[in-house]
Amino acid sequence: MKLLHLDSSVLGPHSVSRQVSAAIVERLKKANPRLDVTYRDLTATPLAHLSGSHLAAGQGATPDASLQDDIAAGQAVLEEFLAADIVVLGAPMYNFTIPSQLKAWIDRILVAGKTFKYSAAGVEGLAGNKRVIVAISRGGFYGAGTPFAVGEHLETYLRWVFGFIGVKHPEFISADGIQVGPEHREKAVASALETASTLDAA
Ligand SMILES: Cc1cc2nc3c(=O)[nH]c(=O)nc-3n(C[C@H](O)[C@H](O)[C@H](O)COP(=O)(O)O)c2cc1C
Repeated sequence: MKLLHLDSSVLGPHSVSRQVSAAIVERLKKANPRLDVTYRDLTATPLAHLSGSHLAAGQGATPDASLQDDIAAGQAVLEEFLAADIVVLGAPMYNFTIPSQLKAWIDRILVAGKTFKYSAAGVEGLAGNKRVIVAISRGGFYGAGTPFAVGEHLETYLRWVFGFIGVKHPEFISADGIQVGPEHREKAVASALETASTLDAA
């Protein structure tokens, strides 16, 4: 069984989402020591933003030499994603949504004919055979009914993206209120780590 572990925080060892995503992977590895884990740090080796030349290359045009490595990297991340049975993703909230490095990755995996297709019945997700677990961390609170709920474009966005490609029940473990103060941060991290350590590993 293959697990793909991705991180997208720019905060390195100070990152909350990295800590929680690592704990999720640890939990799953403990339950299944034969898990084949691939790790990708989307900020250490970022993918370029999509350009017209990328899209043209996708339609069969010969890419500029300068773009060839990046196109190969995009194909590699798509193949890596398609091969995974489980995806664990660390996703911090930056300016109300995902980091741009994570968006660059999503731009390479939402590919018609690979992870979704259009048919007479509408859109069909082709990646529904995966378990997706997302560790999110947010500086504030965005719960339903709170004044900031309308500004939540991290979890809502990722739910939509994974749902679009067929993942029916993406799982989320969140650490919220990280910027409220050190005490609150400690509690939120401890609670997320506890949830990770008791995650269903079947
Ligand atoms: C550039 C930047 C932008 C941020 N924007 C928001 C935001 O819009 N809303 C929020 O609640 N917290 C925001 N935060 C706080 C982070 O969501 C919080 O620190 C979280 O722990 C980041 O995850 P990480 O520790 O894994 O990087 C921001 C932090 C940074 C560094």
